[in-house]
Amino acid sequence: MPQTVPSPRPARPLSAATQPATAVFGLQWGDEGKGKAVDLLAREHDAVVRYNGGANAGHSVVVGGTRYSLHLIPSGILYPGRKAIIGNGVVVDPEALLKEVDDLTARGVDVGGLMLSSRAHIVMPYHKAEDAFREERLARESRSAAGTGLAQLGTTRRGIGPAYADKVQRSVAIRAADLRKPDVLSERVRLACELKRHMAAGSATPEAFNPDQVIAGALAAGRRLAPMIHDTTYELDELLRSGRRVLFEGANGTLLDVDHGTYPYVTSSSCGSAGIASGAGVPAQRVGRLLGVMKAYSTRVGTGPMPTELHDDTAHRIRERGREYGTTTGRPRRVGWLDLVAVRYAAMINGATGLAITLLDVLAGFEELKVCTAYRAGGAESDRFTPDALDLSRAEPVYRTLPGFRDEVGHVRRRADLPGPARGYIDFIEDFVGVPAELISVGPDREQTILE
Ligand code: IMP
Repeated sequence: MPQTVPSPRPARPLSAATQPATAVFGLQWGDEGKGKAVDLLAREHDAVVRYNGGANAGHSVVVGGTRYSLHLIPSGILYPGRKAIIGNGVVVDPEALLKEVDDLTARGVDVGGLMLSSRAHIVMPYHKAEDAFREERLARESRSAAGTGLAQLGTTRRGIGPAYADKVQRSVAIRAADLRKPDVLSERVRLACELKRHMAAGSATPEAFNPDQVIAGALAAGRRLAPMIHDTTYELDELLRSGRRVLFEGANGTLLDVDHGTYPYVTSSSCGSAGIASGAGVPAQRVGRLLGVMKAYSTRVGTGPMPTELHDDTAHRIRERGREYGTTTGRPRRVGWLDLVAVRYAAMINGATGLAITLLDVLAGFEELKVCTAYRAGGAESDRFTPDALDLSRAEPVYRTLPGFRDEVGHVRRRADLPGPARGYIDFIEDFVGVPAELISVGPDREQTILE
């Protein structure tokens, strides 16, 4: 007799009015211009949610002539009445978060809609010190990136890796809710400082490992953050059930994803759409629109392979025209031609339903434009991406050369009005990646956007 398995209790159906949620994520190595796409989309959403990363991300949004630099708080906060949610998958540095809260409040922005998941992990002072300690130690080792994978990672030194490492390791991790539990907090911090004490001596900030100081700081931050701490997973479920529109804002970029990126030269979280389910508790099928943001060329900050990297006048011109200097660290970004093998791979991983192509204006004035359509390694050619850092460092780009466009395009508002070669460039990207371009950005202002 076959056993009858009782069918699970059916979930409450989603309200008929429920709109599918939208996700925005990067298809390259971060800094794709996601901030602008999120800013444009935030208008038509009720909540904007971060689900991965921490204060390593950063974007500037210009509203009414005022520039806001945000690292942790979703930019939806700048629209009155919007909820800005920091999900459980984010690692939160209370110092950085409270600084953003204070800066926004001082400039008249209402931060009442800000919520922090009670399960978000906290970046402690010793995580930042550990990040710097490891980077400096690796720099001293001066082993080659290609040889051992032990070279400096070029992190943002925001404590991201060590905080995620403690999360997964578990015994000394601190979550937002723990900031209000003095006993739990002190016990874990004391143990963490004990376990990490070998780093204190070599650290530029040994006080970061002083338990009394760390505990006092964390409790003080906890008192201020307490009103913002919620079970954001249930909050998001309620929002979606009541037909509210939710926008997920991915930080960093797919090629920096801890699983799918150029490991070990990656960040420590799931930067793509897959991170939403774990980092916010919202299942994939609730996200209907998946917008992958890509630059019209490639950039990368930090160490790690980048097949199309340039070191010539072209790189210099792109870096200056595109203001390619890091928002978080100010480092000059590495620059190269568009790597479509990498973008197509990232679009595949994320299930991108649309592309947002940014910084097209930066490419004006070149006689010709190159795009990488395959890699050559060991005498063979392949159009598959190679996420292994060592293998990728040996891959040579195979280029297709496309005609460039002489005229500036910053004033263009319709795709049909772009110069022919610029249209051809966009068409080529769409054909190669197999995903339509929904948005083309031709300048930093909100209006410098082509949507039709
Ligand atoms: P971490 O995330 O600070 O540990 O840095 C790991 C790597 O990711 C480094 O190469 C960083 O430069 C890079 N990275 C982290 N966040 C971003 C970002 O938002 N944009 C660009 N690169 C990033």
